[in-house]
Amino acid sequence: MIGLSLLLVPCILALLVAGDKLPNILLILTDDQDVELRGMFPMEDTVQLLGLAGALFHNAFTPTPVCCPARASLLSGMYAHNHGTRNNSVSGGCYGTHWRRVLEPRALPAILQHHGYNTFYAGKYMNDYKGQEVPPGWNEFHGLHGNSRYYNYTLRENAENVHYGATYLTDLLSNRTADFLKRAIQQKGSGDQQPFFAMVAPPAAHQPFTPAPRHEGVFSKKKAVRTPSFNHPKEDKHWLVRSSRLLPNETISTIDSYFRMRWETLLAVDEMVATLVAVLNESQSLDDTYIVYTSDNGYHLGQFAQPFDKRQPYETDIRIPLLIRGPGIAPESHIHTAVSLVDLAPTLLAWANVSTPAYMDGQSFHELLSTDSDGVPAGSFPRSLLIEYWGEGNRNTYNPECPWSEWDNLAQCTLDADCHCQDAWNNTYACIRSVRQRDDRIYCEFRDYENFLEAYDLQLDPHQMTNIAYDLLPIERALYSLRLKNLTQCSGHSCFV
Ligand SMILES: *[C@@H]1O[C@H](CO)[C@@H](O)[C@H](O)[C@H]1NC(C)=O
Ligand SMILES: *[C@@H]1O[C@H](CO)[C@@H](O)[C@H](O)[C@H]1NC(C)=O
Ligand SMILES: *[C@@H]1O[C@H](CO)[C@@H](O)[C@H](O)[C@H]1NC(C)=O
Ligand SMILES: *[C@@H]1O[C@H](CO)[C@@H](O)[C@H](O)[C@H]1NC(C)=O
Ligand SMILES: *[C@@H]1O[C@H](CO)[C@@H](O)[C@H](O)[C@H]1NC(C)=O
Ligand SMILES: *[C@@H]1O[C@H](CO)[C@@H](O)[C@H](O)[C@H]1NC(C)=O
Ligand SMILES: *[C@@H]1O[C@H](CO)[C@@H](O)[C@H](O)[C@H]1NC(C)=O
Ligand SMILES: *[C@@H]1O[C@H](CO)[C@@H](O)[C@H](O)[C@H]1NC(C)=O
Repeated sequence: MIGLSLLLVPCILALLVAGDKLPNILLILTDDQDVELRGMFPMEDTVQLLGLAGALFHNAFTPTPVCCPARASLLSGMYAHNHGTRNNSVSGGCYGTHWRRVLEPRALPAILQHHGYNTFYAGKYMNDYKGQEVPPGWNEFHGLHGNSRYYNYTLRENAENVHYGATYLTDLLSNRTADFLKRAIQQKGSGDQQPFFAMVAPPAAHQPFTPAPRHEGVFSKKKAVRTPSFNHPKEDKHWLVRSSRLLPNETISTIDSYFRMRWETLLAVDEMVATLVAVLNESQSLDDTYIVYTSDNGYHLGQFAQPFDKRQPYETDIRIPLLIRGPGIAPESHIHTAVSLVDLAPTLLAWANVSTPAYMDGQSFHELLSTDSDGVPAGSFPRSLLIEYWGEGNRNTYNPECPWSEWDNLAQCTLDADCHCQDAWNNTYACIRSVRQRDDRIYCEFRDYENFLEAYDLQLDPHQMTNIAYDLLPIERALYSLRLKNLTQCSGHSCFV
């Protein structure tokens, strides 16, 4: 079935780039923005300007639900078992030597730059980037040192490292990007046909959830969404989740306040999107610019009595927003095919008239976005994606304020989470997430002492209240297991299933 869509690629590619100029690309990447808990609610302009004026993806997933590996997948077009960035530490490959020496030089920005694109980066890069150098592939670079911050941060701004105290980071990024777009377009207008690739990664909605002062309290009456799984411990889940006790009221209040603050931080991002669209519109560049909006992973707040984090194989954590506006994309296109962050690099390269390098595990989905002469979308295809995660937890992640032992290899155990640990060495898993015609499922295998299994039928059980892994027919389970094993070892074309 996939063969058909692949056959369609060359002719549609020819159509898309029939003109003599290549499109511009603007990519906006948020941090920890969920879809399941209405994370797009504050993004009114974004939904209007990108989703309703273009394509809304209903089944977009992160390949690994934590920042650094997800960003590495987006930039490299590879699954984590191939790019080797497994967690947020340098020892786990986050901005490690393999990434810097081998992968960065052949990642998306470097390829686009090589093919004549004027490239620009602003915002959070890899969590362990500390301003050592401007990574290859970027003509202009404004990369944040370390993990998400809203104030009091350092940026590597091209040749120098600059510290900022009281300047709200999202607003600074909005200004830097608007300024670049204006210059890049002017340059283009002056006869030089160089297209641009601009990527901006604001800190929202990541911890410490600090809204811009003008947005403080906007959502003061909101509470975290009470899904059926909210503060509902479940015995049928893997060890870490199963061992979560009921959350006390104090922690519920903390969850509610984080929920509100997360939404408030996103309002500045929504303004940024509106500003950047306006800049493109004013310079008559909106029609030849693809604008992509997505997040590195989702987030949970209270589900199965897990306080606030990502790292779990549930829809809250793995589902991400994906909205795309651009040339040839009909307004209000609703895309149901499952796509992953690993598909972005191949798709952006297709727009730039560059074929997918064999080492990329993703698949271009740009053919899903084009319509025929009657405005009918080119079609959708059934797809299975890999979700993989390596639990964090070693002796250094031990928190003496909590009543656990340093030998447990637990992580993210904090007082504001009532010492519910949100990660552990054995929260390590691989899942196959399938979206097919009559099949919307996830099947997961944990690498723990129990070889624990979880599976859910998302059509019947969207909140994942009932683990059906042990009810599957043995033959069905064996088939899932084989397919999953293949995926965890796949590379390039063998990842297309
Ligand atoms: C796209 O690539 C093809 C094949 O290399 C080339 O003939 C064509 O001119 C390119 N189009 C643009 C717009 O660069
Ligand atoms: C700014 O961050 C540094 C460490 O990065 C910290 O030592 C300092 O106290 C912070 N200042 C403020 C005003 O938060
Ligand atoms: C961004 O630019 C606007 C308009 O030029 C200016 O008023 C504002 O102070 C700038 N904000 C930041 C954070 O640089
Ligand atoms: C916790 O909150 C619930 C609902 O608001 C309330 O019924 C209950 O009494 C509270 N428990 C404690 C220990 O305060
Ligand atoms: C672009 O600008 C024109 C003219 O000012 C306006 O009518 C139109 O609504 C704008 N489009 C967008 C998407 O902002
Ligand atoms: C990150 O991954 C590395 C390599 O697998 C591992 O040694 C390290 O303990 C991990 N970090 C954490 C915090 O678990
Ligand atoms: C997971 O790790 C914890 C802490 O080290 C341990 O107590 C527990 O038995 C392990 N569970 C499984 C299923 O591996
Ligand atoms: C696993 O991969 C092998 C080799 O590519 C293939 O022959 C086999 O059919 C695959 N199995 C499943 C269940 O997908």
